[in-house]
Amino acid sequence: MMSSERFYVSVPVRYGEQIRKILSEMNLLDGDFKIISESGTLFLPTTNEIALNRIHAIAKDLPLEIGRRSFEMTNQGPRTLSEALDGRLPSEKLALLPRAYDLVGDIAVLEIPDELASHSKLIGEVFHSIHRNFNVVLAKRGAVSGVTRVRQYDFLSGEERTKTIHTEYGCRLAVDLEKAYFSPRLLEEHNRVAQLVEENEVVIDMFCGVGPFAIHIARLKQAQIIAIDVNPAAIALLKESISLNRLVGSIIPVVADAHEYINDHELHADRVIMNHPSGASNFILDACRILEAGGIIHYYDFIGGDNPENTLTEKICKLIEEGGRSVKQVSTIRRVRDSAPYEYQMVADIILD
Ligand SMILES: C[S@@+](CC[C@H](N)C(=O)[O-])C[C@H]1O[C@@H](n2cnc3c(N)ncnc32)[C@H](O)[C@@H]1O
Repeated sequence: MMSSERFYVSVPVRYGEQIRKILSEMNLLDGDFKIISESGTLFLPTTNEIALNRIHAIAKDLPLEIGRRSFEMTNQGPRTLSEALDGRLPSEKLALLPRAYDLVGDIAVLEIPDELASHSKLIGEVFHSIHRNFNVVLAKRGAVSGVTRVRQYDFLSGEERTKTIHTEYGCRLAVDLEKAYFSPRLLEEHNRVAQLVEENEVVIDMFCGVGPFAIHIARLKQAQIIAIDVNPAAIALLKESISLNRLVGSIIPVVADAHEYINDHELHADRVIMNHPSGASNFILDACRILEAGGIIHYYDFIGGDNPENTLTEKICKLIEEGGRSVKQVSTIRRVRDSAPYEYQMVADIILD
């Protein structure tokens, strides 16, 4: 029997199903290894050590432990694409095979380099035979583009659809990858902002996409969120997500251009979320207009160079001053994710004077 060292979460057997469901919804359960039952305790193998910290926050009432031990594999066949395709692709091409993939609900999204484009169907089918837990395997076609920030996909294996329900931090999000922007890599950011919101705040999410910030916030806080997006498909998905979650806050979904909506309505907000890194800088005046002193902006941008933190601080302070306001404090500045070689999606949390 083949086995391998994995991180695990362990709980008394009676909590096993509860924790299995949580891990599985968070895409943390490693289905390639067998769950171990030993002296009344279940050991569940997990995929990601870092993300395990979140388990403590979500399952805080369960007596769970985290550790590392050896697990037997469920599938005795090849474990990686390169093992499975050995002999079917020339060795220089094996080296180019994708090592990671995005996981959106029951959909796996691969990024296949141009040099392997003619083998993409084979790669997708072999990937699917290794990872049977997905129902759909897609490949990205090109980059996100246009106002709505969507891209196209090729179907490689499984069902022909781009729609699914994705779960992050217990939030159920209706996603259609081909119709509206969604990235599974922003979950920490969605949660971080939601944790900062205080009860009874009015939050305006100017570029909400399918509404992950809005759903995270409304699940946690009794806030009112106006969630705006110019893409009707994104707002239709947000409406679906509103009915999929038990919310304590309220969400008003709006299909509109954020600039026009803010100018046509008498709005006052405590917090504005501006996660549209390729376009948000054109909307700073609008955000400044609806915030009182002490109001907060979460501003996102793509920034490269040696010191992106400085570059972003200078850029956003200048934009806000041009908008007739001044910055009281930049309370957070951080790299959210890599967006290109030597470039980051950055966020700045700004408190206005
Ligand atoms: C990066 S995506 C949204 C990300 C979303 N906040 C999230 O975390 O998943 C940017 C969004 O801005 C929307 N958008 C672009 N221009 C807009 C405008 N003028 N007014 C409102 N929404 C706009 C796009 O349709 C897209 O859904």
